[in-house]
Amino acid sequence: MDEPRRVALISGASRGIGAATARELGRRGYHVIVNYRQDSAAAHRVVGEIEAGGGTAETVRADVCDDGEVADMMRRVHAEHGHLDVLVCNANTVNPPFEPLLAVSWEAFIGKVTGELAGAFFLTRQVLPVMQRRRAGRIVYISSTAADQVGAVAAHSTAKAALNTFTRHVAATAAEHGIVVNTVAFATVRTDATAGVLNDDLRKFVEERSVLGRVMDPDDAAASVVAVADGPLGTVGQVIRVDAGYDVLDQQLHGVVEHFG
Ligand SMILES: NC(=O)c1ccc[n+]([C@@H]2O[C@H](COP(=O)([O-])OP(=O)(O)OC[C@H]3O[C@@H](n4cnc5c(N)ncnc54)[C@H](OP(=O)(O)O)[C@@H]3O)[C@@H](O)[C@H]2O)c1
Repeated sequence: MDEPRRVALISGASRGIGAATARELGRRGYHVIVNYRQDSAAAHRVVGEIEAGGGTAETVRADVCDDGEVADMMRRVHAEHGHLDVLVCNANTVNPPFEPLLAVSWEAFIGKVTGELAGAFFLTRQVLPVMQRRRAGRIVYISSTAADQVGAVAAHSTAKAALNTFTRHVAATAAEHGIVVNTVAFATVRTDATAGVLNDDLRKFVEERSVLGRVMDPDDAAASVVAVADGPLGTVGQVIRVDAGYDVLDQQLHGVVEHFG
C-alpha cells in the first residue's frame, strides 16, 4: 500500500520565516498548509512558489489566537488529509513593543505575552489529538534568543521565555504518544517584523557577532526549522538556539572569554 502523503502545517506562513519554511518543506515533498491571518495574496504567492517547484500546497486562513478559528482549520485539515505529520508553530501574533520595562504599558506588555501563548496553546490543543491517533508527528515552536536578554525587549523576552517553558510541558505530554516536540530560538532574522528596528547600528552590531558576517535571512532560519522538523530523531523537548555564533562572538568581543580563560 502507498504511504500517505506527508502533511505539514505552518502557522503564519504568508511571509518571513514561516514562508521560507513552507517553501523548504514543499521542496522536501510535504503537502504544505500555508496558514495566514490577513494577507491572502502573500499566502497564495507562497503556494504558487511551492507548486512551481513541483510541490503541492494550499492556504488556510485562521487567526491562531482564536480557538474557534483554529478548531475550524483543524477540522478542515483532518477532513481533507486525515492526519498531520508536522506543525510549525511560527505565527508572529503580536509585534513586540521594543520598549524598556519602565516605559512599556501594561496593555502592550500583557498583549504580547497572551498573544504569544494563545497562538501556541490553541494550535497545540487542536493538533495533539490528530497526531496522537497515529502515534507520530513533530511539532516545532519558533522562539527567540530574546528570552535570555534584558533591555528594551521586556515584553518580547517574557513572552518567549513563557513559550519556551510551555513547549517543554507539551514535549513531555506528547512524548508519551510518540510525538516529538522541540523549539528553535532565533537571534535577529531579516523579516517584516524586524524591518522597523534593524537600522545601520543594529545591523553592524549583529554582523560583528555572526559567523555569517550578515544578519540571518528567512532561508537561513528555515533550514534550521526543517532540520528539526524533518531531521533524525533524538532531540526532544529542547530549546535549540540558532544565532549564527552571536552568543560566543559577543562574549569574545566583550573579553569575557579572555578574562576567565
Ligand atoms: N524576525 C526575527 O528576527 C525573529 C527572531 C526570533 C524569533 N522570531 C519569531 O519567528 C516567528 C516568525 O517571525 P517573522 O519575523 O517571520 O514574522 P513576520 O515576517 O512578521 O510574519 C508574520 C507571519 O505571521 C502571520 N500572523 C500574524 N498573526 C497571526 C495570527 N494571529 N494567526 C495566523 N497568522 C498570523 C502573518 O500573516 P498575515 O500577514 O497574513 O497576517 C505572517 O505570515 C515569530 O514567532 C517571531 O517571534 C523572529
